[in-house]
Amino acid sequence: MWLRCTSRRLLTPFNRALKHGRLNASSWSGKVAAVMPEAAGFQGVTDRATLQEFSHAHSDSFWAAMANHRLTWTSAYDTVQDCDLRRGKVKWFVGGKLNVSVNCLDRHVLTCPDRVALIWERDEPGAEVKVTYRELLEMTCRLGNLLRRRGVKKGDCVTIYISDALAERIRDANSSTVITVNQGVRGGKMIDLKKTVDAAVDTCPNVRQVFVAMRTETPVVMKDRDVAMEEYVFDYHDGDVFGCVADIGWITGHSYCVYGPLANGATTVLFESTPIYPDPGRYWETVQRLQINQFYGAPTAIRLLLKYGDQWVHKYDRSSLKTLGSVGEPINTEAWEWYHKVVGDGRCPIVDTWWQTETGGICIAPRPSDPDAEIVPGMAMRPFFGIKPVLVDNEGEELTSKSASGALCIAQPWPGMARTIHNNHQRFIETYCQPFPGYFFTGDGASRTEEGYYQITGRLDDVINVSGHRIGTAEIEDNHCSAVAESAVIGYTHDIKGQGVYAFVVLKKEADITEPELRQQLKDSVSKSIAKYASPDYIQIAQRLPKTRSGKIMRRVLRNVVERDLEGLGDLSTLDDPTAVQEIIQGHQALC
Ligand code: PRX
Repeated sequence: MWLRCTSRRLLTPFNRALKHGRLNASSWSGKVAAVMPEAAGFQGVTDRATLQEFSHAHSDSFWAAMANHRLTWTSAYDTVQDCDLRRGKVKWFVGGKLNVSVNCLDRHVLTCPDRVALIWERDEPGAEVKVTYRELLEMTCRLGNLLRRRGVKKGDCVTIYISDALAERIRDANSSTVITVNQGVRGGKMIDLKKTVDAAVDTCPNVRQVFVAMRTETPVVMKDRDVAMEEYVFDYHDGDVFGCVADIGWITGHSYCVYGPLANGATTVLFESTPIYPDPGRYWETVQRLQINQFYGAPTAIRLLLKYGDQWVHKYDRSSLKTLGSVGEPINTEAWEWYHKVVGDGRCPIVDTWWQTETGGICIAPRPSDPDAEIVPGMAMRPFFGIKPVLVDNEGEELTSKSASGALCIAQPWPGMARTIHNNHQRFIETYCQPFPGYFFTGDGASRTEEGYYQITGRLDDVINVSGHRIGTAEIEDNHCSAVAESAVIGYTHDIKGQGVYAFVVLKKEADITEPELRQQLKDSVSKSIAKYASPDYIQIAQRLPKTRSGKIMRRVLRNVVERDLEGLGDLSTLDDPTAVQEIIQGHQALC
């Protein structure tokens, strides 16, 4: 990907169709029909809903049309797919070759070199840097040439340091080259990344060289294996701005800050900071300053900001916003309403997007087939093009009735899906293909309404079984109590009921309620909305919940604390703030 920086643009079937005047430019399905005239049924497709049906019924034709229309191929593929979910075999576009740089950069440099490709939203507000497509291609070429000069070849694995557990990952990938910056900057603090890299690389004899870019002025000790990289030249331009504020080390950052926006020639924001630095208005101040049009973030951040009150949002002009996205976990009703009414002034649709690292991109979202479709709060709703979700019962039978709930699987392969687990294909088969043979198993539970809308109920291993009643933790967490900003519910071993319900709650900053009142309110609310048996046995009030840097609550840590298995806490290196665990332990000891 790094080494190929040519600008040759291939004449795709889509371009050919355009050239020969066969394209009805106003109709998206017309574009698809134009590139796949042989696809039976495509010609008659005139609306997006029918196209969605077509994408399910004629998956190969659909994906072939997408691949031809959306991507530039270096060599054409021979076969659209060769997949067998029963055997964990996933091969797409067999024989074809394409280049990420060509697709994300080169082709856009030909048509719009000065469009802003990405906006680096630096830790310090007001110091953003804009990089055009031309500049980004130049930087990519420079980096590619540097790696090539230093002996990195096609097929070599290069590790870019953006997350924890570095040594393990370098060894796992058998990487010989590592790229890092001297220091990271987050929430006004400097983090010595180079030092961490040094310690990790000392235990990885295969690493030949470490490239070091200077993110801050602080000098670092350079070892023999280290290679200094140069600083870049930037430019500023106007343009449409896609603001995915996810951590770049999370798949959401990869797919929706980098590859997705760049492959589509969009201007993307790289948000480096935190939602509350220097104050809880940071997101909205950034929206105002960068004129962000689509804002995409995680419910955990929304709940955090909700705690601080509306004034931080009202302070800034958010009129540039058109769509608000949510990703990564179920968005509870209160957070959804706040996001919609306060952040979006009630005028921006909220798209609650469901997907996973393993799916590569969004699979269920409110509006793939109809821009004016109804949106139900807190529901991911409708399958994306080419994605065929099914619900399966414990015996592996597909639930065919309209309204149903069960294990969420995907019935046919799609190009963005994971193909294996690095160095452990057997584990891939066991985890995703064997639980429900013939289907890709997501590990999530979901329910489907009469209208065919999907609602994700959470990870299946987060289901609690109280006296024989199975309840998703998200169902209990979604109970409304105006004093609570966020909550996490887990099951714990109970002598009589099998499992009991233990709830952790974080209060809003302005909450004015006594502990007995709070407990009573929560118990009443759960009893009323679900049933008495679901009402929590314990309610622990916490300052914060243990979370990963991508905002996921680490429930296993909560379970360990409640089951008093502190020895088994395991790897905590992905925790955002390790002090949260100590607080949770102390709170638990005080309560029980
Ligand atoms: O349980 C689902 C939850 O997050 C899991 C995927 O986590 P990860 O691979 O870290 O995320 C990648 C980017 C999304 C899923 O199995 N999840 C994700 N989105 C939603 C969700 N749960 C409910 N609603 C969502 N919109």
